[in-house]
Amino acid sequence: MIQANIVGTGSYVPDKVLTNFDIEKMVDTSDEWIKTRTGISERRIASKKEACSDLAVKASKKALKHAGIKAKDIDMILVATATPDMLFPSTACMVQLGIGAKNAFAYDLSAACSGFVYGLSVAEQYIKSERYKTILLIGSEIFSRITNWNDRSTCVLFGDGAGAVVIRAKIIRKKEGILSTHLHSDGHYHDLLFIPGGGSRRPISEKIINEKEHLIKMKGNETFKIAVRFMVNAAREAISYNDYTIEDINLVIPHQANKRIIDAVAKKLNLPEEKIFVNVMKYGNTSAASIPLALDEAVREKRIKKNDIVLLTAFGAGFTWGSAIIKWSLDG
Ligand code: ACO
Repeated sequence: MIQANIVGTGSYVPDKVLTNFDIEKMVDTSDEWIKTRTGISERRIASKKEACSDLAVKASKKALKHAGIKAKDIDMILVATATPDMLFPSTACMVQLGIGAKNAFAYDLSAACSGFVYGLSVAEQYIKSERYKTILLIGSEIFSRITNWNDRSTCVLFGDGAGAVVIRAKIIRKKEGILSTHLHSDGHYHDLLFIPGGGSRRPISEKIINEKEHLIKMKGNETFKIAVRFMVNAAREAISYNDYTIEDINLVIPHQANKRIIDAVAKKLNLPEEKIFVNVMKYGNTSAASIPLALDEAVREKRIKKNDIVLLTAFGAGFTWGSAIIKWSLDG
């Protein structure tokens, strides 16, 4: 049986740290409010010279090194992002150029904060169909460029970063690698979290810019409740599909949007604190980068060992949500 297996992880965050105290000087907020309501202490901000693909290239090089794979051996590059370098060409093409993956085809995927789990599912299908053998999947975002820095209800939440994984085909006899992925969307919720202007519906104009319609708008409270419900549902779906119980799961890596969302998800799933990975305090919500960034940290901190069962659960604008279960083995 051919299974898709993650054989290397990597991540990159920009050097510049923006603390809650820095944001106190920009809008009417406080470190205490931000920490209590979100769990976030600081986030990273890309330099003026950096675009989404620059972060992605740095994360990718680390993932390739970790996997021991050369760029020329990649068949396909997939970049999950809501903050591409430009509308076209794709950020994935810029990554292909940046790492010298001359034999790969490349494209972007748009599912906001669920983008990485969506990408994992796409990669899994290409590999299981035996069409391609080696896929580089990246979640990369520069949300600081689409954040309204005058809106205290959203500007405290987001940060910049990238995470990458190398996924390879593996012939196996037992359950191993990516065991399942489950994806969902519901466009009814499109206007709870969105960027109304700058696309083909409301093209960029002076009016759009003056009204800040080219930047993130979110109804935080409604989004919060639905995020908890959908991430829990997606996690349960993955667990029951694989005939597991919550006790079988070694580590849950949820989308890192807000510590209170993560705590609520853990509580509903009956998960002890040590089984849920949290790094939102250091990076804020890095959207499609959040899960691969957390996954890479968990691997490097040895929170994930061979044969561990790792559950990913994601939620984002759309709304989109989904989950994946991986039986961990870095062997190619
Ligand atoms: N500092 C101080 N006060 C603030 C701030 C701030 N930064 N932001 C909002 N407030 C105020 C509000 O104005 C409000 O004041 P009022 O009662 O006088 O009107 C009060 O705090 C409470 O506001 P709420 O919005 O009810 O606060 P809540 O506890 O819901 O926290 C938050 C807001 C952090 C945004 C939360 O709702 C949240 O995290 N939502 C979900 C975010 C998310 O998961 N997004 C999805 C993924 S992102 C993606 O896909 C791109």
